[in-house]
Amino acid sequence: MAQAATRFTCQACGHEALRWAGQCAGCREWNTLVEASKAVPAPVAARGGRMALGQAAKPVALRDVSAPEFDRLLTGIDELDRVLGGGLVPGSIVLLGGSPGIGKSTLTGMALGNLFAAGRSTLYVSGEESAAQVRMRAARLGDTALGVPVVTETSLGTVLATLEAERPDACVIDSIQTLHAEGMTGAPGSVGQVREAANAILGVAKRIDCAVILVGHVTKDGAVAGPRVLEHLVDCVLLFEGERERSYRTLRALKNRFGATSEVGVFEMRGGGLVEVADPSARFVGEASGAPGSCVLCSMEGTRPLLVEVQALVAPTEVVPPRRVANGVDRNRLAMILAVLARHGGPGLAIADVFVNVAGGVRVDEPGADLAVALAIVSAHRGEALADPDGRPLACFGEVGLTGELRSVGHPDRRLGEALKFGLAPILGPPERERMKGLAPQATIRAALGSAFSRQRLQAA
Ligand code: TYD
Ligand code: MG
Repeated sequence: MAQAATRFTCQACGHEALRWAGQCAGCREWNTLVEASKAVPAPVAARGGRMALGQAAKPVALRDVSAPEFDRLLTGIDELDRVLGGGLVPGSIVLLGGSPGIGKSTLTGMALGNLFAAGRSTLYVSGEESAAQVRMRAARLGDTALGVPVVTETSLGTVLATLEAERPDACVIDSIQTLHAEGMTGAPGSVGQVREAANAILGVAKRIDCAVILVGHVTKDGAVAGPRVLEHLVDCVLLFEGERERSYRTLRALKNRFGATSEVGVFEMRGGGLVEVADPSARFVGEASGAPGSCVLCSMEGTRPLLVEVQALVAPTEVVPPRRVANGVDRNRLAMILAVLARHGGPGLAIADVFVNVAGGVRVDEPGADLAVALAIVSAHRGEALADPDGRPLACFGEVGLTGELRSVGHPDRRLGEALKFGLAPILGPPERERMKGLAPQATIRAALGSAFSRQRLQAA
């Protein structure tokens, strides 16, 4: 027999507790526990240690399972289609997360516009903006976006009914945090509401075979839609990142049941909406300054090599401890690189502020960025440019180990290939087992510093 009990649910992580507490035991957030009544089944022990048995299911060999080939919906935005693994899958749910103002509504508006132009039925549910505001944005995006039917609605029941009645091929819900389920007391955007809304939409989407994109906000610590609960429910989680003030944005998949999670799309925000940047390396190398403190990094964004400019500034300071500011690279990684430099042939920067920035607002979260960060810092400290006399920037990649050695990272061939495309050889990198075209192998950070600042490096490879 089920007994009614009161539970306290954390609004940030979904953790449940029997008693109220100031701090959630699950995620250590403060003041997030909210009382909720919940029907809890009586413990198994109370039922004589036996679970009630249901109908037995018949297992089927995987080869006998029917797997229909689905026809993917192409959004007409190549970078988005690629990150999705080849377009939207009918009946799937995609969660698109990003901070406010990054361009989520713009991206989804453009995708629906293209689908509409391709003869698909579409629906845009806006809970955040009025129909007039949505129209104003669509007008900037062009004629196709204006054809998309829109409803402005925040009631979950109405949205579900509209979906059932319209049966669109593709639907955007902007945003999941604005929906509220009747009969639930939590505020819109709380764990209970978001989970309930996503679950209900998932059910309808599967039934009517509609591809749904749920737009979700990202909390300050980077979780999509606040509670992580949503990420388990949906088929695909996309994160739209970048700095609002900068024009570049990257779209990456954190989870994808229908494709790889390593793909990254690069966009630029312009007056007429988002524009795909098909060859971002060319853009970033072209913009690289070649001044002291600038170095080109051959990084990998998923399966795609990407050249980005790493910049550093070193300034004397009397502040204790000195400032370490890292934009686009990991802060702890920066601290490690500074420590290794101080110990293994680089300058000691204990009385200097160090700022490191990846130009264009790109994030490079990989150990392969270490060498570029180190070289940019030393170049800034010495006031000596790494570029050759013709102004060609120095390109490099490689992980810096704690003992000062350079360690190999994934896909050296692709990184080198991309840099060679732009005529950036010789490229400094860790020693590889076989000889590689364009690579000037360096065993240690000390050796790399020697090569980078000596004029002989021009003849190195
Ligand atoms: P928006 O898509 O509304 O962001 P989100 O839904 O993620 O909150 O738009 C973000 C910003 O982009 C907005 O400040 C205005 C700018 N923008 C352009 O620069 N050009 C355009 O064509 C559009 C539609 C928006
Ligand atoms: Mg929006």
